[in-house]
Amino acid sequence: MLLLQSVRGTKDILPNDIQGWYKVEQAARKISEIYGYKELRTPIFEKTEVFSRGVGDGTDIVNKEMYTFNDKGSESITLRPEQTAALVRSVIQNNLINDHSVTRLFYIGSYFRYERPQKGRLREFHQFGAECINSQFPESDAEVIALAISFINSLGIKNYRLLLNSLGNEHSRANYKKELINFFNEYKEELSTESKERLESNPLRILDSKNPIDVEIIKNAPNILNSLDEESIVHFEKVKQFLDTVNIKYEISPNLVRGLDYYSHTVFEFQSTELGSQDAFGGGGRYNSLFRELGGKDTPAVGFAMGMERILLILEQISGKIDAISNIDAMIISTSEKYLASAAKVANLIRNESNISCIYDLNRRSLKSQLREANKLAVKWAIIIGEEEFRNESITVKFMQEDREQVTVKISDIKKLLK
Ligand code: HAM
Repeated sequence: MLLLQSVRGTKDILPNDIQGWYKVEQAARKISEIYGYKELRTPIFEKTEVFSRGVGDGTDIVNKEMYTFNDKGSESITLRPEQTAALVRSVIQNNLINDHSVTRLFYIGSYFRYERPQKGRLREFHQFGAECINSQFPESDAEVIALAISFINSLGIKNYRLLLNSLGNEHSRANYKKELINFFNEYKEELSTESKERLESNPLRILDSKNPIDVEIIKNAPNILNSLDEESIVHFEKVKQFLDTVNIKYEISPNLVRGLDYYSHTVFEFQSTELGSQDAFGGGGRYNSLFRELGGKDTPAVGFAMGMERILLILEQISGKIDAISNIDAMIISTSEKYLASAAKVANLIRNESNISCIYDLNRRSLKSQLREANKLAVKWAIIIGEEEFRNESITVKFMQEDREQVTVKISDIKKLLK
């Protein structure tokens, strides 16, 4: 029979890789807690509208990358391509906002986008993100950026850039869009096919193009920062001031527009040279109209998400793969099938009363192969039950990591011995 393989662009996270994931997930939880963010978990799939309305019909994510299907009740369902829209849906539905207080939320989960797989780009990938909801003020933009940076620092990542831009409020963005369309219309024939399409659907995204001819044209495109109105300028200046106050270094990048429609004002991205072409390992921004878009009250919010696989790639570049550790402390070895029941009893005692990890052979193998396995697992204690021990209700403990001495004690004394 044909061997079944996993779906292209998905990866098994194997026991040998799990230490790296634990490290990154623990850092995410720890830093979120320190900043006062609480975890929210939403379902892996949502009604398609959450994303088509939330992320935006004109985006690549919605147009080309969503895993959308009709369920057996003919409802259009989508595997979440990102968390922000689904989180906003949940916050509205569960009434998680109080009028005058800020709701701080974080998440860790898997997301799905039908993209062309390559290094650092998967069809199922994982994000850690945080969202700060119900403050319109620039200090909240600075707070989520500071949280992201604390997370990056806590993992020892140093070689990265924080790119910062402002898309302005709806009013100044609409003006800029018009200006941009006028500008690109002059070069319409020269633009790449993709950019030509975007001229109709999402002109700001042309600024993201990597096509060399587009890049030349973009060099002379109007700068978004020149079309910000007073309110937008003040907000952006304050964000920068708050970042300066806490010594966060950033680079202003007027062509940074991000691939999701819900942003206004601040947008940012973290890039690393350790990653090759998929160099963005995190990004985010302010999204003041998303709540309204999804049927809620106008609620300002700002947040970010980091790509876990990309973070792990960076960590591997800087310090190699984190070794798998054996977490088995004790292995019980019985010299004959006759003592298996006794082995089970001792294992039970050790696990439940001493809180020590312990296994015994389930394949009834020879003494020699059991000892070989105990060595391979680098256990601290090999606990041997043979004829003598069985008769005297005792065990023989061999100290595998020290002098390999062994002592025989009564079963009732195990607890005192294993520490
Ligand atoms: P995003 O830029 O689409 O933003 O994704 C954030 C990060 O997820 C990216 O910087 C990247 O590291 C990772 N990522 C995205 N797609 C893939 C993929 N196919 N394979 C591997 N990693 C990937 C968002 O998702 C927004 N929801 C962020 C946000 C939160 N904005 C406001 N709040």
